[in-house]
Amino acid sequence: MQLHHVIEAQQFDRPTLAELFTLTRQMEQVVERGGSDAFRHRIMATLFYEPSTRTRFSFETAMHRLGGRVISTENAAEFSSVSKGETLEDTIRILNGYADLIVLRHYEVGAAQRAAAVSRVPVINAGDGPGQHPTQALLDLYTIEKEIGSIDGLRIAMVGDLANGRTVRSLAYLLGKFRDVHIWFVAPPPLRMKDDILTYLAEHGVEYTEESSLEKVLPEVAVVYQTRIQKERFGDRIADYEKCRGLYVINAASLRLMKPHAIVMHPLPRVDEISMEVDQDPRAAYFRQAQNGLYVRMALLARVMERPASPPAPRPDQP
Ligand code: CP
Repeated sequence: MQLHHVIEAQQFDRPTLAELFTLTRQMEQVVERGGSDAFRHRIMATLFYEPSTRTRFSFETAMHRLGGRVISTENAAEFSSVSKGETLEDTIRILNGYADLIVLRHYEVGAAQRAAAVSRVPVINAGDGPGQHPTQALLDLYTIEKEIGSIDGLRIAMVGDLANGRTVRSLAYLLGKFRDVHIWFVAPPPLRMKDDILTYLAEHGVEYTEESSLEKVLPEVAVVYQTRIQKERFGDRIADYEKCRGLYVINAASLRLMKPHAIVMHPLPRVDEISMEVDQDPRAAYFRQAQNGLYVRMALLARVMERPASPPAPRPDQP
């Protein structure tokens, strides 16, 4: 499968995922050797309209480890010409003249698709509002395969803010590619998984259960995928946020209910939905998961950049 723009998780098929993960394992060795200079003439632009620690730093580290260079704005809404009224489309057209690929995080669903529509160079969606976060889903899937051994047959609980969580949406799309998967969705009623994902899962043979008791689900699953209640998506509805936070917390008591070889994942950042006491348990996989983000993003960049950048389209009056 040709990879150019990376906009949504469902664009990946299983052979491409398998190939990407083989390359990811090789990237772990590349990092151990200190990096490579395979892409030393390439430039990546990271254009972030929302805060980030893991995604931006891991993409930028990935590019450096591959020998490339990075141009970046971490607060595009304030520090780019958007603050003067420039459109996203014009910003992308301008960056096409400077960079070989663009990594974009934006607060609006569909922003990455809009950017790709006007971009000759690859656009990678690093999160579009509550829409999708496909590269997070890739690293999540890689982590599950590495820690559990297989995705087929997976039993997983997705917990917390499933309505606003773009990572769980993208991961659900990817799990729809695998056999005999059962997902338990555990969320406060206002934050339950949206119907578009439930419909997609049903159409792709993934069994799911919506469950209010986390204690009932913990003994059943190999992966507990915890998420943060996203306060920033509630706007001024602070009372609604307060009703939802703290309902589902992973703590020492939760670990006692879990299987001995099950793992706890979280896209991070966490606030209070995983107690610090869990960090010491070998089943706490979330820091290993974040580390895998570097390797997966190196593999993805290498895959996307393996073709030379295409030249600008000729003007109609040129031969
Ligand atoms: N998981 C994730 O997207 O983290 P950041 O918001 O820190 O990039």
